[in-house]
Amino acid sequence: MITVPVELGARGYGVTVGPGARHGLAALIGELLPGAGRAAIVTQEAVPVEVDPGVPFEVHTVPPGEGAKSLATVELLCRGFARAGLSRADVVVAVGGGVVTDLAGFAAASFHRGTAYVNVATTLLAQVDAAIGGKTGVNLPEGKNLVGAFWQPRAVVCDTDVLASLPPREWASGRGEMAKYAFLGGGTPDATLLDLDLPEQVARCAAIKARVVAADEREGDRRMVLNYGHTLAHALEASAFDGPDGGGLRHGEAVAVGLVFAALLARRLGRIGDDRVSLHRRVVDGFGLSAELPSGSSAGRLVEFMARDKKAHHNLTFVLDGPDGPETVRGVGVSDVMATLAEMGAKP
Ligand code: GLY
Repeated sequence: MITVPVELGARGYGVTVGPGARHGLAALIGELLPGAGRAAIVTQEAVPVEVDPGVPFEVHTVPPGEGAKSLATVELLCRGFARAGLSRADVVVAVGGGVVTDLAGFAAASFHRGTAYVNVATTLLAQVDAAIGGKTGVNLPEGKNLVGAFWQPRAVVCDTDVLASLPPREWASGRGEMAKYAFLGGGTPDATLLDLDLPEQVARCAAIKARVVAADEREGDRRMVLNYGHTLAHALEASAFDGPDGGGLRHGEAVAVGLVFAALLARRLGRIGDDRVSLHRRVVDGFGLSAELPSGSSAGRLVEFMARDKKAHHNLTFVLDGPDGPETVRGVGVSDVMATLAEMGAKP
C-alpha cells in the first residue's frame, strides 16, 4: 500500500493507494476519528463497492449523473444525516466518483457547519484527481460548481481493485487526467508514468496533485496548472460535439485532445519545440487516447466556448508548456488559437 501525504498542516491527510485499500477503512476511521460513533455512507446505486467504516452506518444514495450535483440533493443528504442522528463528531464516507465526492464533501462541509468526511474513490478519474484537494460543491442552473466550499477530506482511499469493473470509457476518462500529470511532475516532462503499474501510476498522479494543492490550497494561482488541457476540453464538452460513437467525449477524453492542442499552441507561441509536441502526442497515444478533434468541429464556436469558460479568467487564458513546464499564460491572441485549431483540422 502506498500512502501519499497531502501536506496542509492541521488540514493535512493521506491518500492510500493500492489493491484492497478499501479494507483498511475501518482502521483508518478508528485511528483518525476515534470519537466517531456513526457514519453516513453516500454513494450511488450503480457503484458496486461496499465498505465497512467500522461503526454503525446508514447508506444515503444519490441519483446518477451530473444532474444530481444540486442544492436539492445536498438538502436531502443533510436531512438524511439529521434523521440518522449524525453528530459533528461522526463521519461522512463518500463512496463513488467525482459527483459523489463533490456532493458528499459539500454536504459534510455544511452539516453542523463542518463534519469530517473520507473519500473512497471508485473511478480512476476520482482516484487521480476529483477525490483529492478539498474543492467540494454543486451546480446551479446558471453554471457548474457555482456553490461550494474548500473542505478537505480526513483521508482518501484509492482501492485499485475496484477499478476492474469500470466500463472502457470510464477508464479512458481517467487516463486523460493521468496523461495531464505526465507534464505536471516538475523537471523535464517525460513519459515514464506510462511504464509504471496501475497503483504506482495512481500514486504518482495523486502525489503530483497533492503537491500542487499543498502549494495553493484555495486556487490562488499555481493550482490552475491542474487545468492543463482543460480550456479546450471544457469547450468541447460544452459544445457537445458527438464523438465517433455519437455519445460525446468523456471529460478525460476531451482533456487528451486539449493537451495536444495546448502543446501545438505553445509551439506556435515559441514556448516549446517539436520534441515537446511529440512527447504530448506520445503520452496521449500511450494512454490509448485520441488527440483528434471530433469531426465537424468549428474553431469559431470552440473559441466562443473557451472565452466563456469560468476557468479562463481573462480572455483567452491557457495553461501552456514552456521552458519551466506548464504555467498560466494570459492574453493569448484569438488568431493563434484559431490557427492552432485549424492545424488540428477544425473548420473556421
Ligand atoms: N475535489 C477536487 C479538487 O479539490 O481539486
